[in-house]
Order: sequence, then structure tokens, then C-alpha cells
Amino acid sequence: MGEELDLERIALEVGTPCYVYSRAALLSNVRTLQEALHRIKPLVCFAVKANQNLAVLRLFADEGAGFDIVSGGELYRVLRCGADPAKVIYSGVGKTQEEIEMALAKGILMFNVESRQEIELIRSCARQLRKTATIALRVNPDIAVQSHPYMQTGTHHHKFGIDYEEIPAIAAYLRRQPEIRLRGIACHIGSQITSLQPFEKAFKRMAWMFRELCASGIQLETINLGGGLGVRYKDEKPVGAENYAQLLEKHICPLGARILLEPGRYLVRDAGLLMTRLLYTKTTRGKIFYIVDAGMNDLVRPTLYHAWHEIQPLRQVGGELLQVDVVGPLCETGDFLARNRQLPRLRPGALLAVMQAAAYGQVQSSNYNARRRAPEVMIQGNRYSLIRRRETYADLLFQETLG
Ligand SMILES: Cc1ncc(COP(=O)(O)O)c(C=O)c1O
Repeated sequence: MGEELDLERIALEVGTPCYVYSRAALLSNVRTLQEALHRIKPLVCFAVKANQNLAVLRLFADEGAGFDIVSGGELYRVLRCGADPAKVIYSGVGKTQEEIEMALAKGILMFNVESRQEIELIRSCARQLRKTATIALRVNPDIAVQSHPYMQTGTHHHKFGIDYEEIPAIAAYLRRQPEIRLRGIACHIGSQITSLQPFEKAFKRMAWMFRELCASGIQLETINLGGGLGVRYKDEKPVGAENYAQLLEKHICPLGARILLEPGRYLVRDAGLLMTRLLYTKTTRGKIFYIVDAGMNDLVRPTLYHAWHEIQPLRQVGGELLQVDVVGPLCETGDFLARNRQLPRLRPGALLAVMQAAAYGQVQSSNYNARRRAPEVMIQGNRYSLIRRRETYADLLFQETLG
């Protein structure tokens, strides 16, 4: 991860399981993207859902990033890290009145609106607060992507966005609503996209839509192309920021609009791992299980998306490779980090690194089986800081009473 610190030392001092991030890798990711986009100069709004740790958010804010949020909790986080609310975009199909009011009061850049009923709620909140709500219409462009079904968001089978055919009528309606300022259009067709084709289709459709709306007299200023840039976990061939930038230059830049992007995974991808310790090994009729102290509550991606994460022993061990299932301690058959994986013969106590775990890792962790969520550590050069401590047993009971 580009840092020098001894992970074994962190395991001893902080314990396992534990998320470890590299500050240098995070910085390199954000700078690589900004470099690729330097001619376009978009507002890059990091999708907080990918990694919500305050230290990570702060780092990106210091690099000039804005944020894409999907809940009041994420808004609270970005404000707590000192981010500028004027660089915050609020997406999501189910914003509540409380969340909308909070976002209006804080003066966020805009809402990405996902339904007619949401427009009405935003209107009434804005009226009450005597504010004008700035919005973009999140277009459902009806474009499919090749990624796990749960990571696809851009066709009419999905709950996201407003059908592109409905957009002109809604935009015309919004012209007459004083509480709303329609500033742009937005889309996000899915996540972990590893081909340029769906991006190109979406960009073309969005550019067409933008032009149609402008031709009908609706003055739009922004166009938001969402996130979705895929990364390499195993043998994927990601499209790369340069190629993505070229597509933007070809299809979107000629519009002359301000371009907004919402990358999540791309900015954190290889900048973090989940460190776990082997508790037991067990062989059942020839099948070998490595039972480790991290489980699906710590990293649910293998279970939820059948995601493949490389797993490396911290200490290189020679000898034959064994085919093993790396499983967690939870009482669920779906509790695994890897299946049928080639790993060396290891003894209990060995440390393992589950790679590429910074994106959609800790954010999806839970307290299932009354497990305490893992800490997060940020390495910088030859030192590290604990940026989230391990939960305590008292933390687990904090919100409860005996009734
Ligand atoms: C609206 C929206 N924007 C951005 C993202 C970030 O996507 P990714 O992490 O693939 O870049 C997501 C994630 O699915 C999303 O739902």
C-alpha cells in the first residue's frame, strides 16, 4: 500500500480484525483521478457510502473534493469532518422530511431528486424554511451494465432515478415552482463498471437530454455523471481514469456545463486492507477450513456480492499450496471471506491480509452475533493513528434498556 509500517506491530497493538488504510495510497488515488481530469476540472464528490471514516473524508476534503451523500448520517459526518456544505450533493431514493430539512438548513449544493413525490416534499420543506432548494433531476437512462446485479442501478428495473422519458415534463413543471431551482441533471448507472461502453451510452443519453431541455428553454448549468469506475480485485481490466476522461471530453465537455462526478470505490480501492488472525484450522473429509477472527459482519462483500478479495499471509510461507475456505466465526454458512482459495499451510496465530478492503468494507460492517465492529487505522509513513477504536461491549448495549 506504499507505506513502510510493520503490519504485525499494528496487529499486536490494536488487535485483529482491523482495517488498515494507507494515507499515501488514498492521496495517490484522488490525485491520479484529478490529474486525468485536469482539462475538465469537474467537481469530484466522493461517494461517502464507499468509506465514511472522518479521517478519510477529511483527507479528501483537503484535496478539494466535495461529497455525495445518501443520508442525514452521512451529511452529519461530512459536516463533522469540516467539509464545505456548498460541495455536498444529496442522492438517494428515500430522503425523509427530517433529512431534507437538515440538508436545506445546512445549505448543501444540491439534491439529486429521484421521484415526483420527493419533489413535492422538498418543495414543502423549502417553503416552510423560506429557502430555495437547488436540485438536479436524477435521470434513469435505462442503460444496463455488466456488474453484480446488486450493483446495477441504471435500467427501468431499478428503483433509482426518474425514467428519462418523464424528465422533460417534470422539468417544465419545475419552471413554475418558486421554491425549486432546477440546476442540472444527474445519473449513476451502477458500480464496479469495467467497460467503457455503458459509460459511453449513458454519456450520450445524458448529453442528448441536456440539449433537449436547454432547447425547450430550461437553463441547466450542471451535469452529473455519478460514479461507477471499476477497479481490479482479481483479473478485471478497469477502464482507467484516462479513458474515462476522454469520454467525458468527447461527449460532455461540448455542453459547456459544470461537470460533477461521484466516484466512491475508485478513490479508496487499493488503499486499505482488513487484517485478520487465523484462529483454527479444521479438515472435514478432506475439505480444509481456515477459521479467522474476521467475519461477514466485518466484511460482507464476499457474502453479499460474491466478491473476490485477494488474501495474503503477512509472513511468506513456502511449501505446497492448499485449497481452503477462509471462514469467519459467525453462526452463518454464508460467513466466508473466500472459498476454494489456494493458500499455504498456516498455523493458528498467522496473520492474513484481505486486500482491496477500503471500499464498501467497514461501512457495511455490523454488530451481528453481538460482535464489536473492528477498528480502523491510518498509516502515514512509519507511524499510524487509530482513526476509529474497536467497539467495546458497553458500546453494544449503549442504546438499550431492560424496558
Ligand atoms: C448515487 C451514487 N453515486 C455514486 C456512487 C459511487 O459508486 P462507485 O463507488 O462505484 O464509484 C454510488 C454507489 O453505488 C451511488 O449510488
